[in-house]
Amino acid sequence: MSDQSVSSVSTTPFEGQRPGTSGLRKKVTVFQQAGYLENFVQAIFDGLDGFAGHTLVVGGDGRFYNREAVQIILKMAAANGFGRVLVGRGGLMSTPAVSCVIRKHQAFGGLILSASHNPGGPDGDFGVKYNAGNGGPAPENLTEAFYARACEIDAYKILECADADIDTLGTSSIGGMTVEVVDPVADYAELMQTLFDFDAIRKMFAGGFRIAFDAMHAIAGPYATEILERRLGAAPGSVMNGTPLPDFGGGHPDPNLVHAHDLVDIMNGADAPDFGAASDGDADRNMILGRNFFVTPSDSLAVMAANAGHVMGYAGGIAGVARSMPTSQAADRVAAGLGVECFETPTGWKFFGNLLDAGRITLCGEESFGTGSDHVREKDGLWTVLFWLNILASRKQSVADIVREHWGEFGRNYYSRHDYEAIDTAAAEGLMDHLRQSTPDLKGRTFGSYEIDWCDDFAYTDPTDGGVTTGQGIRISFTDGSRIVYRLSGTGTEGATLRVYLERFEPDPARHDLATQETLAEMIGIARDLAEIETRTGRGAPTVIT
Ligand code: G1P
Ligand code: ZN
Repeated sequence: MSDQSVSSVSTTPFEGQRPGTSGLRKKVTVFQQAGYLENFVQAIFDGLDGFAGHTLVVGGDGRFYNREAVQIILKMAAANGFGRVLVGRGGLMSTPAVSCVIRKHQAFGGLILSASHNPGGPDGDFGVKYNAGNGGPAPENLTEAFYARACEIDAYKILECADADIDTLGTSSIGGMTVEVVDPVADYAELMQTLFDFDAIRKMFAGGFRIAFDAMHAIAGPYATEILERRLGAAPGSVMNGTPLPDFGGGHPDPNLVHAHDLVDIMNGADAPDFGAASDGDADRNMILGRNFFVTPSDSLAVMAANAGHVMGYAGGIAGVARSMPTSQAADRVAAGLGVECFETPTGWKFFGNLLDAGRITLCGEESFGTGSDHVREKDGLWTVLFWLNILASRKQSVADIVREHWGEFGRNYYSRHDYEAIDTAAAEGLMDHLRQSTPDLKGRTFGSYEIDWCDDFAYTDPTDGGVTTGQGIRISFTDGSRIVYRLSGTGTEGATLRVYLERFEPDPARHDLATQETLAEMIGIARDLAEIETRTGRGAPTVIT
């Protein structure tokens, strides 16, 4: 007998943006409105079929409102008929770890509480995302169903009961549903041990190899501390900012040269460690640094693919590689060299998921600091770090030497992304329309030392299900393999963000140590002129250069 009861509570109308596969992201204050989170969670449950009695995984990146949201979700999962929830201790779990736990325990799906690299705290962002049974983000048909249901929903089901204890490992029950509090790190760490040569990496650390890993006060901290320091023997203190904080210590938990500047200073300073890395709020992004050396995410993917043979879990060979369209073509050259397929997909992780599920690729990545493999169905920051460490332990060379040798063998794709943030939406769309109309006539035209080979508006046909995705960005390809890409961001929150991706191929090793922006200067000028950026947006320069 229990005095718990299920109530059906009326909701206020849902005013949400259409959730993409990265879920619903909003200000914390929006999520705190009465019934807002509940409404969206109920819409997700209503959009799913056949979960009665099955398992749901729940965890978040520890940002403000994480704990409150977990309690609401537990009570709603019970009221809606889930059989069991696996929740990370403290309500914590990184995005790649949720993916891992869903797959390992054959859960029905999972809810991830995060707004990725967006700032947290009471005035920051919060988010909810549903991942399906393959461990990957919900496909579009599901997110569309969730949204449609959220707009019409007028009640949600929630159990009236005391909060569950989410801080003690073990099993309890609410309303007949099992709540199992799990160590958020254990399953993930175990998976990493099957993929990488921990003995070789441990030996490398014992020999004096030093690492600085910046967890940015986000969820990677507990994972990095357990795996790098405890299991692999990196010196205590190798993990910086390792305690997850609800506001990420006031920082912006995005691993790039701007936001991870403390780490960058260490890696560029006197007595820098051998290797530096950082990850974002929910630990799926990564940045890789050597001593005084930045590895672009595009190069990182290419180097990883070329060196997979050095990495225990991938030594048997890789099936193929995929990169998002704007990511540099460095990986294509490696795939050609290895004789494996290379796919160019629209921006975002979901297109990789289909290729991974079909066994067509093993590795994939994006220029926006994301790499991953078939081990889970999300990009994975710490996995990338371990992949690099395994390469370093095997090759016994510095990061810079490995990348320079790579360029020597395959050529170097100088690469940069220029973002024009918060520009007028109509101006941004006008600019893209202008490019769509004008670029077909540019074939064969020369600009300084560059000749245009072809241009298009990128469209993708998914080789696994035939689905067609159009309008993914303008590609201008030059005869020497260089490239300009224009697209509008799908994740910006204010006005529109124009992203211009610039890439110049340089085969000559004597020209592999030039400064990136200078090397791309002519290309940058061509990109500005062709798109009439200044006259159309009023911006003489980008807001962010990566
Ligand atoms: C950005 C990145 C993209 C990534 C996405 C989610 O999207 O460019 O690679 O998948 O965030 O992390 P965008 O704002 O460019 O649409
Ligand atoms: Zn993220």
